[in-house]
Amino acid sequence: MKLLLLTFLGINLALAPALAAVGDGPMPPPQAPALWDYITKTSPYTKWGQWPDYSGVRRSRSPHGPYNQVYVNQAALNSTKAPLNYGAIQVKATQTKDGKPKDVVVMYKAKGYSPETGDWFWAMYTPQGRPLAAGKLAECIRCHSAMSENDYVLVHQFR
Ligand code: HEC
Repeated sequence: MKLLLLTFLGINLALAPALAAVGDGPMPPPQAPALWDYITKTSPYTKWGQWPDYSGVRRSRSPHGPYNQVYVNQAALNSTKAPLNYGAIQVKATQTKDGKPKDVVVMYKAKGYSPETGDWFWAMYTPQGRPLAAGKLAECIRCHSAMSENDYVLVHQFR
């Protein structure tokens, strides 16, 4: 009996770290205000990492920019191949040519949100967090689908 109990406890202890490692807490629904709250308060994007092949302030191609910096959360960084893991978020903070914040565009991978376009939720905000557009945005998808085999990601190449 004692042995059985120990075995039982042992299994639970072994499982505990796996359960705890699931992520940065509950993920927000694919809605503009909830996502902004998440990326600025729950898990501030300025503390996230960056793709190794796209870090620091970069020149941007139209319509983004003229300068930008792309931050990616741990779920994105943990993705070693396309498609990215659910919960992945990419935040691109764009800047004017004199370094002032211009807008913030976000891609959030939400399970079941839009299976036909990679389950990405697209959003664009002012630097203060006012949503300018959000959802299954046709214009974002049109450009980014040039790399649909790379899960719509343009700045980092999965192999
Ligand atoms: C005219 C084409 C075009 C449109 C429209 C467009 N993008 Fe992009 N996007 C790009 C290019 C090109 C890059 C690569 C980085 C750069 O040059 O700025 C990029 C990069 C990004 C990134 C960085 C991560 C990645 O996937 O490379 C995000 C996030 C992003 N775009 C979000 C959006 C959102 C949200 C919209 C719609 C509001 C949008 N984009 C519309 C062309 C476009």
